[in-house]
Amino acid sequence: MATPPSMRPTAPASTGAADPERRAAPERRAAPERRAAPERTADPERRARLFSLARQATGFMPDDEGEALYTAAMRAGSTFAVSTMVEIGAWCGKSGLYLGAAAEETAAVLFSVDHHHGSEENQPGWEHHDDSLVDPATGRIDTLPHWRKAIDGAGLSGSVVGVVGDSPTIAAHWAQPLSFCFIDGGHGEAPAWADYRGWAPHVCPGGWLAIHDVFPDPADGGRPPFELWRDALDSGSFVEDGGCGSLRVLRKVTGPAAVRPVG
Ligand SMILES: C[S@@+](CC[C@H](N)C(=O)[O-])C[C@H]1O[C@@H](n2cnc3c(N)ncnc32)[C@H](O)[C@@H]1O
Repeated sequence: MATPPSMRPTAPASTGAADPERRAAPERRAAPERRAAPERTADPERRARLFSLARQATGFMPDDEGEALYTAAMRAGSTFAVSTMVEIGAWCGKSGLYLGAAAEETAAVLFSVDHHHGSEENQPGWEHHDDSLVDPATGRIDTLPHWRKAIDGAGLSGSVVGVVGDSPTIAAHWAQPLSFCFIDGGHGEAPAWADYRGWAPHVCPGGWLAIHDVFPDPADGGRPPFELWRDALDSGSFVEDGGCGSLRVLRKVTGPAAVRPVG
């Protein structure tokens, strides 16, 4: 899996000659070139094909919510010249196909974060377990081959980058401001709050935060995603900006500008 830019190791510093008085001049790095905004492409046939693949993919996202997710990500990708998106909770690539369609269309990059061993609720004996996703060699769920097949098969590997590992650990080392962040990882109290606390601060002012499985009525589903959504609104940093079904979309309204808007 590729490594996001903010996580690339830096080259070891040159120490120069042993004599500290006679150190070699430090290597100078060329100033980064000012890059033009990447090219955006709108191809309705391609979009329809990606939506069709998304609908067929294994996962937990109703079609209308997937399309609303795409629409929200399209707004993010169209708002900023350089647009970095993250989804937490890749599973088998369903939401990644919707988000990947928006990333491709707006020349953004989606980093799709998952350890690929399933959440608590995906483990044997729980409601959302799928035995066909267990790797017989390890006895553990392994959705990475399924995710890769979905993303590569859709021709999205240029726009969607898999980041395999523990979400809060990755969030703690992440440095790139996000135009769009989709939280759909572990739905238990501890993992959901860890994702929210780890990733929401990376959303740039004017950027979007989407949360899946927000159920105001406890009879419809678990509380943590709803509580994150409530906290984001109560913080004053986010305002409601659409949604569909249990998908809620928020826009960040505070903080210093960190991502260059489209000029
Ligand atoms: C509800 S599924 C994601 C569904 C996906 N968005 C879709 O559209 O089908 C939740 C995912 O979160 C992942 N996950 C749970 N806790 C995690 C953690 N701490 N770090 C990384 N991934 C995690 C699980 O492996 C699982 O694939």
